[in-house]
Amino acid sequence: MIKPDAVENGHIGAILDKIAGAGFKIVAMKYTQLSKREAQEFYVVHKERPFFGELVGFMTRGPIVSAVLEKENAVEDFRALIGATNPADAAEGTIRKLFATDIAENAIHGSDSDENAKIEGAFHFSGREIY
Ligand code: CMP
Repeated sequence: MIKPDAVENGHIGAILDKIAGAGFKIVAMKYTQLSKREAQEFYVVHKERPFFGELVGFMTRGPIVSAVLEKENAVEDFRALIGATNPADAAEGTIRKLFATDIAENAIHGSDSDENAKIEGAFHFSGREIY
């Protein structure tokens, strides 16, 4: 997901360019806005965290771009491309270093395992929306 902060700040094109340039194939994509319920479901693993309410508020405040990406070693390579959760800790040239605001409004989300990538892909897309 390209998050609401990055969409608001006009970074969709630049972020997709970096993703394509890093060799990822886009197999599904949509411009959409999460409801409160959807954001609570997507981030359910964080529901006990003190920042959960803030996270849901942020993720629902405007549109996002969601996508399913394919590549050899995709999860690890995508996490390297986006950088650390906190942009202050992210390596130079990473998407979060370039486009994120802070640890909460950090521009982009990537799945942390192949298993979660399947779950998260199915959250955003039906089978016939993935090519
Ligand atoms: P993401 O990789 O999508 O996974 C969980 C999200 O919670 C994270 O990116 C941030 O948007 C948010 N987050 C993580 N840590 C904090 C924090 N300490 N305060 C506020 N939001 C956070």
